[in-house]
Amino acid sequence: MVKIVIDGAVQEADLDEFLIDVINRVGAEVPHVCYHPQLGPIQTCDTCMVELNGRLVRACATPVCDGMQVATKSAQATSAQLEAFDRILSNHLLYCTVCDNNNGNCTVHNTTRLLAIEHQKLPFRTKPYEVDNTNPFYRYDPDQCILCGRCVEACQNVEVNETLSINWEDPNPRVLWDGGSTIGESSCVSCGHCVTVCPCNALMETSMLGHAGFLTSIKKSALTGMIEIVKGIEPETGYGTILQVSEAEEAMREHRIHKTKTVCTYCGVGCSFDVWTKDRHILKIAPEHGPANGISTCIKGKFGWGHINSSDRLTTPLIRENGKFRKASWDEALALVAYRFSEIKNQSGPDSIGFISSSKCTNEESFLMQKFARAVIGTNNVDNCSRYCQSPATMGLFRTVGYGGDSGSISDIEQADLVMIIGSNTAESHPVIATRVKSSHKLNGQKLIVSDIREHEMARRADIFLHPKPGTDLVWLNAISRYLLDNNLEHRSFLDQWVHDLEDFRKSLEPFTMESACKITGLSVETLTTVAQMISQAKRMCVLWAMGVTQHVQGSDISTAISNLLLITGNYMRPGTGAYPLRGHNNVQGASDHGSMPNNLAGYQSVADPEVRDRHEAAWKAKLPSTKGLDNHQMVEAIHVGKLKAMYIIGEEMSIVDSNANYVQAAFEKLDFFVVQDIFFSNTCSYADVVLPAAPSLEKEGTFTSTERRIQRLYQVLEPLDGCRPDWRIIQDLANQLGANWKYEHPSEVMDEIASLTPLFAGVNYKRLEGYKSLQWPVAADGTDQPLLYAKAFAFPDGKARLFPVSWTGPVDQPDATYDLHLNNGRLLEHFHEGNLTYRTDGIRQKTPDVFVEVSPELAEERGIQSGTWVQLISRYGQVRVRALVTDRVSGHELYLPMNSVESPVNRLTSSHADPVTNTPAYKENSVQLKVLEHGESPLPRINFRFGRPTPQKGVEVERKWKRPDYTPPGNGLVQLQIKNE
Ligand code: SF4
Ligand code: SF4
Ligand code: SF4
Ligand code: FES
Repeated sequence: MVKIVIDGAVQEADLDEFLIDVINRVGAEVPHVCYHPQLGPIQTCDTCMVELNGRLVRACATPVCDGMQVATKSAQATSAQLEAFDRILSNHLLYCTVCDNNNGNCTVHNTTRLLAIEHQKLPFRTKPYEVDNTNPFYRYDPDQCILCGRCVEACQNVEVNETLSINWEDPNPRVLWDGGSTIGESSCVSCGHCVTVCPCNALMETSMLGHAGFLTSIKKSALTGMIEIVKGIEPETGYGTILQVSEAEEAMREHRIHKTKTVCTYCGVGCSFDVWTKDRHILKIAPEHGPANGISTCIKGKFGWGHINSSDRLTTPLIRENGKFRKASWDEALALVAYRFSEIKNQSGPDSIGFISSSKCTNEESFLMQKFARAVIGTNNVDNCSRYCQSPATMGLFRTVGYGGDSGSISDIEQADLVMIIGSNTAESHPVIATRVKSSHKLNGQKLIVSDIREHEMARRADIFLHPKPGTDLVWLNAISRYLLDNNLEHRSFLDQWVHDLEDFRKSLEPFTMESACKITGLSVETLTTVAQMISQAKRMCVLWAMGVTQHVQGSDISTAISNLLLITGNYMRPGTGAYPLRGHNNVQGASDHGSMPNNLAGYQSVADPEVRDRHEAAWKAKLPSTKGLDNHQMVEAIHVGKLKAMYIIGEEMSIVDSNANYVQAAFEKLDFFVVQDIFFSNTCSYADVVLPAAPSLEKEGTFTSTERRIQRLYQVLEPLDGCRPDWRIIQDLANQLGANWKYEHPSEVMDEIASLTPLFAGVNYKRLEGYKSLQWPVAADGTDQPLLYAKAFAFPDGKARLFPVSWTGPVDQPDATYDLHLNNGRLLEHFHEGNLTYRTDGIRQKTPDVFVEVSPELAEERGIQSGTWVQLISRYGQVRVRALVTDRVSGHELYLPMNSVESPVNRLTSSHADPVTNTPAYKENSVQLKVLEHGESPLPRINFRFGRPTPQKGVEVERKWKRPDYTPPGNGLVQLQIKNE
């Protein structure tokens, strides 16, 4: 701590804290237009000038040091602030009363008020550019742009999509997309960072325009007239009176605009934000305080909410009768489900019914689903879709370090010296985590190694990109472990203190010489040696992995090999280190955490443990089954052999997202009774006997647990649509039809029950999760959580980790003469999975209307394929017809088919092969043949970001502004020009 004097008062501050932060903390009220705490100093606006030891400096870029004497309101400082802000007003017309941004948070408006501006000296000048409306989600109005550069900084250095710049040398500077493209045809990924941080109305969400204000929906001609009137009276009245009018209008808005915190419904990053609504209209998503994301979002979280008010939401229960669905009342539908479940249970036993919970639903709903299966029906046949993706990673961690969760937080990934990403298209599947890696790599010297069979964005940014043969990651990982041990590059003291079984592990690595690894993987000895050296030299390494690892027959073993490597290099137990299996769905971590698993109750408490069962039986007043139930893979098998007669699935498009979809759909056709609960009539619903209409995330309360084990509350933004019910209510209604007598009034009561029965969540309650507060499990009874999972010990009785030897068996479903191409698959940035939610957002559908298969330029030439050529892909299990997209993201005979299609789902091609340890399907091990059909239109329109050409630069580059011949620092040139701290 240091002491500084601000306006005569002594203040304490942290060394190197920026002066503006101290000034703000003590409430000294200095204008600052371009500064945003999450962007750091940009230094474009000059409004934060203060006098420091007699000289003018920018408070936003001045780190404090002991003994500073600061005057924020001296004549010199005030004059500089006014001059700087006058320049801003020459770039911005104050028409607040008829502006959709007049919501109390407009920095330009508020600064005009703060500086008590009555008249501006420099007149407003229009710029010679049109408004750009070419992006479906936001628009840019150059005439309102004050050239603060916040958007550029956010795009270049936070999102690191590197689309935006300002042409400082131009006579009329403006923000540029890709150096001068329209927004629509640029590389912009519509993440919304720029719109979120814009301090005025220059960048605005289109969903706000004409909707936020009382007068903003009026015709442009009338609007222009009103603006002219206001301009006309300003010389006489001054801005004070005009602002008073707009502030009265702003106050009226407060009664009809609601701002409610929620957590994103899409991926496992756990972004949280306020949702602004007017009635059921979603005005905008406003991220700022989220512990995982701050100002960050991706296109889905920021703009992908079209499903909420989609006209085809399910709003009434449906019952199949004579092969057709008819509408039914809730009473009738629930009575039928209860009757049929009872009947089937009585005839064939409780284990003839299976339950699939949803990783889109809340923790409380997952808990109630497994409670329903176990305590009401009496079976452990309950699972969730983590079986399709996460279970192998969890197993790898259970084997080695004890808990099945990320070992640190996203901030640890940011801090690491070396990040290794294996089998994860992070920039598209976990976009906000990718921004943290891209930013640390670009700005802070973080090193990046990527292993993938596809050259996606992270691969292109990597210092080393490994492209091993498909399914061989385990081999090079083990070879590197062996190399490190052979060359005494392991972390000896860490191993001695914290890790068991080193010698067995060393022995298991004997087959994994560098030379044999290179033969199997196709990588070179030099490359692998360089990777090993980088790992040994890194002080802090994080490994991120995803479905490219887990969806193999050896998914558990590859995940184990990763954790083994982290252990021998001592990359656990410290900030900036650890294992990060990136969880796919918003609550896939929570669905398993809360017991929707065939072998575990909530908190990974085994159903076989009598003490655990006793505790739950006493609380639930029901006898619980003690043997492991069927997982979702086994349920499909059990239907085929006639053992499973009925199923209840909530929020899961299982007929498409499960591997070998034809086989799964054939199973559903055999069910005696099938209940599907969803918000839309999904493909899976078409096999159901009863369909129950549920409510999406914005229409309910609850909690989600993100990839970093972070439990966060979502608040109800909107009432459930008429006819829909939140999943937790439906499960309770069904339980009560079957005599359970549950009486939950609110999900918080479910969470209290979870905490009382589950040591892992002992201290979790809604009070501790209020607003943007969050907890990272395990949470002790006193509310202490563990952002760093293994801060004191590993999760084994003796506190020590275990090295777990794994050998290599190789992938299945290999290419042969008939099925000669390897088929990879996964997500796209803009669509979530099969697209049931994201296709209902018009802008996303415009930008990415259909699925496509990525074909390498080599294969395209060999087979005469162009972008747009229709091809038939035929595997050993099924076939689909799609259009080709020729791209060098894939190479040779490797194809990539994203999963964003209900009509041509990749899982018609995938097999039933699975990791024997977890039964996770080997989605990534497929071979296909390709038949060339007729030529068609390119599957991607020109307005897709993949056609753009980014313009990377180090932020807003304010030095170029300072070099303009017409630039002089405000305040008689006394300013000390500053540049950012290096
Ligand atoms: S990628 Fe597009 S939406 Fe995201 S910050 Fe850059 S310009 Fe804005
Ligand atoms: S568009 Fe960019 S430069 Fe213009 S005012 Fe908004 S954030 Fe500032
Ligand atoms: S989809 Fe994931 S990265 Fe995108 S906003 Fe939602 S949680 Fe964040
Ligand atoms: S706040 Fe803009 S220069 Fe400091």
